[in-house]
Amino acid sequence: MVQQVRGVVAHSKGKPVSVETITVPDPGPGEAVVAVQACGVCHTDLHYREGGINDEFPFLLGHEAAGVVESVGEGVSDVAPGDFVILNWRAVCGVCRACRRGEPKYCFSTDNATQAMTLASGRPLTPALGIGAFAEKTLVHAGQCTKVNPAAKPEVAGLLGCGVMAGIGAAINTGGVGRGDSIAVIGCGGVGDAAIAGAKLAGATTIVAVDVDDKKLEWAKEFGATHTINSWQTDPVKAIQELTDGNGANVVVDAVGRPETFKLAFYARDLAGTVVLVGVPTPGMTIQLPLIDVFGRGGATKSSWYGDCLPSRDFPMLIDLHLQGRLPLDKFVSETIGIEDVEEAFHRMERGEVLRSVVVL
Ligand SMILES: NC(=O)c1ccc[n+]([C@@H]2O[C@H](COP(=O)([O-])OP(=O)(O)OC[C@H]3O[C@@H](n4cnc5c(N)ncnc54)[C@H](O)[C@@H]3O)[C@@H](O)[C@H]2O)c1
Ligand SMILES: [Zn+2]
Ligand SMILES: [Zn+2]
Repeated sequence: MVQQVRGVVAHSKGKPVSVETITVPDPGPGEAVVAVQACGVCHTDLHYREGGINDEFPFLLGHEAAGVVESVGEGVSDVAPGDFVILNWRAVCGVCRACRRGEPKYCFSTDNATQAMTLASGRPLTPALGIGAFAEKTLVHAGQCTKVNPAAKPEVAGLLGCGVMAGIGAAINTGGVGRGDSIAVIGCGGVGDAAIAGAKLAGATTIVAVDVDDKKLEWAKEFGATHTINSWQTDPVKAIQELTDGNGANVVVDAVGRPETFKLAFYARDLAGTVVLVGVPTPGMTIQLPLIDVFGRGGATKSSWYGDCLPSRDFPMLIDLHLQGRLPLDKFVSETIGIEDVEEAFHRMERGEVLRSVVVL
C-alpha cells in the first residue's frame, strides 16, 4: 500500500527547508522500503539546498541513515523485512566498466530505486544521493541496504552511510595509511575527524589535525590527533614539517575542499607522499601550481569518492570494530534532533557548533 509520511524537502535554491507530507510507493522489483530510525545532517545536504550539486529541485534531503527494512519488492534476496541496515549510495551494478575491471569501488552506474517518491501534489522528489532519509520511510534500491549488527545504535550506525565512511576511507582506503605512518588532516569536521579516527585505527603514529577553530582541534584530539595546528595562527606547512623530522607527512587529507587547503595539503606532504581530496569543492574553484612542483614532489594526488568504500565490505566491519570499543563512532553525535529541526541544524553546522546533528525518527 502506498504510504504517506513526513519528509524534509528543499523546494528551491537557498530557501529554508520544510517538513512535507510525501508519498512512498510500494517497493517494485529490486527495491526496498526502509523505516528510517536515524539520519545525520551532512554538509552535502546543505550543498543540495544551496543548489551546489544540481538543479533538480525539489530535493528530499538526508542520506546518512540507518533503519529497518519494512518491505521488499520482487526478486530481492539479500535483505528481508526486519533487517537492520545502513543505507549506502554505492549499490554497485556489477556490469559497468569499473565493475568489470574489478574495481567496484569506482562503480560508474550505481543502483537507485526506479520509482519516485512524490509530494502530495504528485510532483516527483529527487532524493539526496539517491537516498532521501530525512523521512519516516524511504524507498531505495535493495542494494543500497547494507545489513550490520543490530546491536549498534541507529544514530551512530547511520553516520557510516556517508561522512564518517568518507573520512575513514579517505585515510585508510584512498590514502593507504598504515602502521607507523604520519598523516595530517586539514579541516576537522565530521569527515576530517573520521579520517583521524581511521588513521589511528590503521596504526599511524603521527596524526596532525589542522583547523581554523580551536574547539574543533580539541575535539580532534578525542579521535586520536597527536598534534594540533590552528592554521590561522601558525604556518601549517612549516609546522607539519617540524612534526615530521622536517619532511612533511606521508599522507595529507584535505577535508575542506578549497583551493587554499588543497595547496596546503600539496606542500605539507613528504616527497612521494599522497594528497587525498575528500572535501568537495564548488564549481568555479581553480588552483595554479608550478608544474615542476607536481613533478618534483612526486607521489600522488587522489580524490576520495565516498572514501573508496565498498559498503558490503566496510560497513559491517566498522560496526563490529565500534561494538568492540575500537572505533568511537558515538563521539560524532553532537546532538539528536527532530525532523522539524533540520534547518536549524544547518545553521549550527555553519557556525561550527556541531560535528553531527542526527535526526531521530
Ligand atoms: N568525498 C566524499 O565522498 C564526501 C562525503 C561526505 C562529505 N564530503 C565533504 O567533506 C567536506 C567536509 O564535510 P564535514 O561534514 O566534515 O563539514 P564540516 O563543515 O563539519 O567541517 C569542515 C571543517 O573545516 C574547517 N575549515 C574550514 N575552512 C578551513 C580552512 N581554510 N582551513 C582549515 N580548516 C578549515 C571548519 O572549521 C570545520 O571544522 C565537505 O565539503 C563535504 O561536502 C565529501
Ligand atoms: Zn558498476
Ligand atoms: Zn553526506
